[in-house]
Amino acid sequence: MTSQQDPDGTNGGRYVGPRAHDPVEENDPHADPAFITRTKFLSGVAIATGAVMTGAILVPVVGFAVADSLKDEPAQWVDIGPLSQFPEEETSSIAVSGPAPESDRRVFVRRRGEELAMLWNRCTHLGCPVTYNSGSDGYACPCHGGAYDSEGIVTAGPPARPLDRFDWMVVTPDGQQVARRSDPAGLADASDEDRLMVGVPFSVDDELQPYRLHGPGEPVTGALSNLYPF
Ligand code: FES
Repeated sequence: MTSQQDPDGTNGGRYVGPRAHDPVEENDPHADPAFITRTKFLSGVAIATGAVMTGAILVPVVGFAVADSLKDEPAQWVDIGPLSQFPEEETSSIAVSGPAPESDRRVFVRRRGEELAMLWNRCTHLGCPVTYNSGSDGYACPCHGGAYDSEGIVTAGPPARPLDRFDWMVVTPDGQQVARRSDPAGLADASDEDRLMVGVPFSVDDELQPYRLHGPGEPVTGALSNLYPF
């Protein structure tokens, strides 16, 4: 006859269940390699958050710097007509084709005596088109009240630097150079038939010293210019 354990843990009068002094077997979660403590979890969250924030800062900065360097225009000269179309002592406005359709722009050709300058109509604040006012001999931006004097230097509003300029050259009808922005002396002897050419744009500071072309909102001097190193 087979003996059967009683419901009260006795077997024929002998207790066979767990006793008070028997070691209790416990599961130690720390022994599991996959176990993540609260400290580990919070450290991971902090590292991940830091990585995301660092990326959020660095990616646009690096992207902006690389994109800016890629934006440099190839050097090209655009013939905008004979000098007779740009009378002395006047500021003329002319649309000029850029190297691509999206880079077409309007240029102010300013002649004063034997000086010639070409100013871009792109406001250096956020890029709105400025207009020339012959009465004040200055430029005004309709967007945020930016104003520039006859040389394109900021006189009011938020623009960070003077209006950008273009390289220029005067050539004879058969293509011989007569004068250039960097060597303008020949302009005094140029004839009305000589052709005026527009070159690449560049930026200037308040002393009209040239810098590589900057984008709207970028200063060319001062501490903030270090944010735009390329
Ligand atoms: S875009 Fe010209 S002042 Fe803002």
